[in-house]
Amino acid sequence: MTPEKLIELAIAARESAYAPYSGYRVGAALLGKSGKVYLGCNIENASYTPTVCAERVAVFKAVSEGEREFEAIAVCGGNQQEIAGSFPPCGVCRQVLREFCAPDDFKVYLIGAGGAYKTVTLSELLPYSFGPDFMK
Ligand code: THU
Repeated sequence: MTPEKLIELAIAARESAYAPYSGYRVGAALLGKSGKVYLGCNIENASYTPTVCAERVAVFKAVSEGEREFEAIAVCGGNQQEIAGSFPPCGVCRQVLREFCAPDDFKVYLIGAGGAYKTVTLSELLPYSFGPDFMK
């Protein structure tokens, strides 16, 4: 799958964002090694702390359906209808991705305004990370 297609899916996934409190809407499209794509959007809560980020929704959907190896994720976010110039996944989501993704190989497409995007690896987003190997 091309980065452009994954990006298109992330932008579409953002339409489902439930963000009545922050107004900040996020979409994610996670590509599994099987070729299947898992979509996520942020889901907020009146009690605030149960809010879940789009990236984690995508990862949890995938893992709960049996997929544990991933190639890439495309993410976008911004206030209401606008897509921000750049949207970086939060630290908690980086750590959740780290559990299942090879840091040097896993690609993160940071979607900007007007279809532009920047490609980074998970190890660039989360250097010197703690992962499953430490627990062996
Ligand atoms: N959010 C995400 O969905 N992903 C991130 O990586 C950062 C933040 C959501 C959570 C909350 O609903 C809104 O953006 C504002 O923080």
